[in-house]
Amino acid sequence: MLMNLFFFFFFASLSHSLTHHNNAISDNETSVFSASKRFEGSSNLVNLRYHMGPVLSSPINIYLIWYGNWSPSHQLLIKDFLLSISTFNHRAAPSPSVSDWWRTVSLYADQTGANISRNILIAGEYSDHLYSHGTHLTRLTIQHVIATAVKSKPFAVDHKNGIYLVLTATDVTVQDFCRAVCGFHYFTFPSMVGYTLPYAWVGNSGTQCPEVCAYPFAVPGYMGGGGPAALRAPNGDVGVDGMISVIGHELAEVSSNPLVNAWYAGEDPTAPTEIGDLCEGLYGTGGGGGYIGQVMKDGGGRTYNLNGRRGRKFLVQWIWNPILNACAGPNALD
Ligand SMILES: *[C@@H]1O[C@H](CO)[C@@H](O)[C@H](O)[C@H]1NC(C)=O
Ligand SMILES: *[C@@H]1O[C@H](CO)[C@@H](O)[C@H](O)[C@H]1NC(C)=O
Repeated sequence: MLMNLFFFFFFASLSHSLTHHNNAISDNETSVFSASKRFEGSSNLVNLRYHMGPVLSSPINIYLIWYGNWSPSHQLLIKDFLLSISTFNHRAAPSPSVSDWWRTVSLYADQTGANISRNILIAGEYSDHLYSHGTHLTRLTIQHVIATAVKSKPFAVDHKNGIYLVLTATDVTVQDFCRAVCGFHYFTFPSMVGYTLPYAWVGNSGTQCPEVCAYPFAVPGYMGGGGPAALRAPNGDVGVDGMISVIGHELAEVSSNPLVNAWYAGEDPTAPTEIGDLCEGLYGTGGGGGYIGQVMKDGGGRTYNLNGRRGRKFLVQWIWNPILNACAGPNALD
């Protein structure tokens, strides 16, 4: 799940319309405000528990579905991020790296003691450039998109290791996109796809709502002169650089909770708070309450916190660390 908790922390006093009352923490404003102080520190309010289901412990195969019109350079940027997660694909990038960042995710294990795999590869790609299900998708039609890809291209049906990642182009609207979510993950229904497959969707918010889903590379207009200025995107593309953090968030969650019965906080399995949700909006030491934390800038003033393959840089949110009981990332200063 991807709930805009960050915006909730920051703007709760201004507007309740940006909140999404589908998780146990955000239902109580008092606890949310005290929760925003817990980042990096005490974690008494976070009740992250394991619910006995599987995690993705075998080498993970990502099946990419490009929905709509995608430029090869944007595809390459996203693939470079995905291929930076695993150290098996390339020479190690300098620290702090994307694969260092995934180490936090690999701290989660299932009931047999098998940890989430650190080996991730792109196992297949499918281009739906003719918008087979139109320019507006719902949660259910996204499953049809996956079914179309699985049937028309010999994508393996990969129940155990697969993540089907649907990425929609800037001109595709998606149910709840921008208003409530920037991405989500779930699993497909056998009645719709023929199989139960973990999947995630992330949209390119470049033109629709960069100030919501590509923050901090765009900031809401109503923040006026008083708020923080937009930061420069590490690869110069607000929409795609913004997507990459959301993709990281969703991959971390689908790996630790692929069938929505493994790692999450909260009592309601239909609205779990997962290991990415707990750290949304946090990218460095000292972050919280609307501040992203201490991150780096390159010579051109572009903001990043992780190094990837082929000299790439990325800005990706932190993940909840179950051992520290705090949000963590490899660019932490302490
Ligand atoms: C909200 O949480 C606070 C602190 O945990 C508690 O004191 C208060 O009673 C809660 N309010 C509601 C409406 O649940
Ligand atoms: C596997 O998960 C356990 C439990 O969180 C953790 O203590 C251990 O360090 C992890 N192992 C690796 C290799 O990440």
